[in-house]
Amino acid sequence: MRKIIVAPSILAADFGRLAEEVRRIEKAGADWLHIDVMDGHFVPNITIGAPVVKSLRKRTKLVLDSHLMIENPQDYIDDFARAGSDLITVHAEACSRLTSIIKKIKSRGLKAGVSIKPQTPVSKIYKVLGLVDLVLLMTVEPGFGGQQFIGKVLPKIRKIRERFDGDIQVDGGINSQTAKRVKEAGANVLVAGTYIFCAKDVKKAIKSLR
Ligand code: DX5
Ligand code: ZN
Repeated sequence: MRKIIVAPSILAADFGRLAEEVRRIEKAGADWLHIDVMDGHFVPNITIGAPVVKSLRKRTKLVLDSHLMIENPQDYIDDFARAGSDLITVHAEACSRLTSIIKKIKSRGLKAGVSIKPQTPVSKIYKVLGLVDLVLLMTVEPGFGGQQFIGKVLPKIRKIRERFDGDIQVDGGINSQTAKRVKEAGANVLVAGTYIFCAKDVKKAIKSLR
């Protein structure tokens, strides 16, 4: 049985009190901090960059899980590595030389993840399954929190689990109901923004995902 990892996404946090928000979920039992990086090109939204990761690194012991929803991620691997990311995930759709980018992340001593959007077939990432530590299967269209979970991603989770023994992460629309479905399909790393940061009882919300 794989360990279930809960990774709250800061996208749903109050960015005006980010350090306090991170402390709140750390105290409530979160395992990782999922950092949604958006550049306004790969996705129609802009969030944060490496300087914020650098500041957060000093404030938390949580694993910093940087999800790069950006074009040309190869140009930013060093910035996010130096800032203190423990794991960097890039989108296969944004990488013309995916294998070399994954190798670059690992050469910096970090864990490497690859992500695909709901419409992208899993066959697009078969070639790097022997290299990556984590596969992130988006369960919403990347760009915004608070969207509806896309159920047709479930067969993609099963297909990857048949071929991959590492961490399978899901991101988007995860709550206590959808968590059950994705875990049954083989996912073990659950990203949740709205469900956790907007919960009355954050500790209970995190526990309900396990
Ligand atoms: C989409 C973002 C969201 C976020 C979580 O690009 O990656 O999926 O992490 O959003 P919620 O949990 O609010 O659906
Ligand atoms: Zn994300």
